[in-house]
Amino acid sequence: MAKAKSSYVCQECGATHSKWMGRCDACGAWNSLTEEAASESAPKGLGGKRGKKINFVGLEGSEKDPPRRVSGIEEFDRVTGGGLVPGSAVLIGGEPGIGKSTLLMQATAKLAESSKTVYISGEEAIAQLRLRARRLDLDKAPVALATATNVRDIVSTLDTPDHIDVVVIDSIQTMYLDNLESAPGTVSQVRASAQELIRLAKRRGFALLLVGHVTKEGTIAGPRVLEHMVDTVLHFEGERSHQFRILRAVKNRFGPADEIGVFEMSDAGLVEVSNPSELFLADREGDVSGAAVFAGIEGSRPVLVEIQALVAPSALATPRRAVIGWDTNRLAMVMAVLDARADLALGPLDVYLNVAGGLKISEPAADLAVAAALLSSQSGEAIHGATVVFGEIGLSGEIRPVSRIDARLKEAAKLGFTRAIIPRIRTSKSGSKSAVNATGLDIVEIAHIRDLAQAVLPKPRQKQALG
Ligand code: TYD
Ligand code: MG
Repeated sequence: MAKAKSSYVCQECGATHSKWMGRCDACGAWNSLTEEAASESAPKGLGGKRGKKINFVGLEGSEKDPPRRVSGIEEFDRVTGGGLVPGSAVLIGGEPGIGKSTLLMQATAKLAESSKTVYISGEEAIAQLRLRARRLDLDKAPVALATATNVRDIVSTLDTPDHIDVVVIDSIQTMYLDNLESAPGTVSQVRASAQELIRLAKRRGFALLLVGHVTKEGTIAGPRVLEHMVDTVLHFEGERSHQFRILRAVKNRFGPADEIGVFEMSDAGLVEVSNPSELFLADREGDVSGAAVFAGIEGSRPVLVEIQALVAPSALATPRRAVIGWDTNRLAMVMAVLDARADLALGPLDVYLNVAGGLKISEPAADLAVAAALLSSQSGEAIHGATVVFGEIGLSGEIRPVSRIDARLKEAAKLGFTRAIIPRIRTSKSGSKSAVNATGLDIVEIAHIRDLAQAVLPKPRQKQALG
């Protein structure tokens, strides 16, 4: 027998290398290669054999929308696109301890009321799982519980004509195939285990929920390949020190991506938060400088959050930039534009930016709110408390229009805000102006960043020699 060859597989991106390297040249990750037994010989091409002809069809057909398994936990169902699709695979990623097992236990308990549901854990013992179920007051739910890590056993067990509707695998990193040599959790094991389970899900028509742990960098541990294999990728995020948890769809073949569900971790498990804006604004201090309320859109819903900025003289040669909940590069851009187009030089100052409540914002529409918070902090003057701000900032300082202006304003009006600073509304978009007026808010449209100070601050800003 030929000596088993080993290869070096990057645990970040799954690229295979013939020799060890300190840095993966496919994705640039450092120290991410581990030795794994080569799984199969390299593909040898087609070898001159002819294949069968494939048939082409038209786009139109009579396929119905897939039936869905609805859990009744509205925040969960919305993120999955209206319930779980039979035969589909969903990956739920999140840091250890964030609440994935809790969420899935609550969801399966609900799903079990109307469908046959199986929960397989490779991480916890039955006793532990039962304790959690009792704590969540779910121990009466007809969930079939098991602990297993061998994929061969799992596949043999689930490959039955008895109909199973939903299967949870907690977590995919603990699963292994006994014909592969590498350890559980390595790329080849995770990929091969997931492949087997997904294939079975498609064949038997059950919805498969895979739990995946996430690395420090925020990618689902190791293989990004997993994200391509499944139909839906959900991230469960939040700060462990905060009680808010956000379930975010980052990919969904059966629904909109970017949808979020908001939960609060309590003594009795995860509680749905159907009005997140109220939650995110709950701890707001009155009129303090450096705070601006951003009217954002998360998925299909408007969400209001407070953006807090603090600028302070720096003791360091390279001033500090600390950002929580937003993109550091985007902050650098907004600061550069403020400097170049609005005469607000923050270069020598420390700048801290925080999105209150632990939400992560990726919308460019937050630019204007960030700029407003920076302006307010730098001047020491508070923005009037009942004002919301949104708009994208371009490099020349222009304020660009954003989507769904009326939904944002409606949410602001609902929560008692009276004033909104927004981009100019294009009149060509028929009806939008009247929809905006109908909200009853005092609307301040601005076209350029230089007009922001006047719009947000009570008095025109005086140039200060800070720092
Ligand atoms: P868990 O679901 O085990 O996290 P994961 O599967 O993502 O690793 O939940 C972990 C945390 O949730 C744990 O630190 C305790 C907390 N928790 C509560 O606060 N309330 C509860 O009712 C439960 C079950 C857990
Ligand atoms: Mg867990």
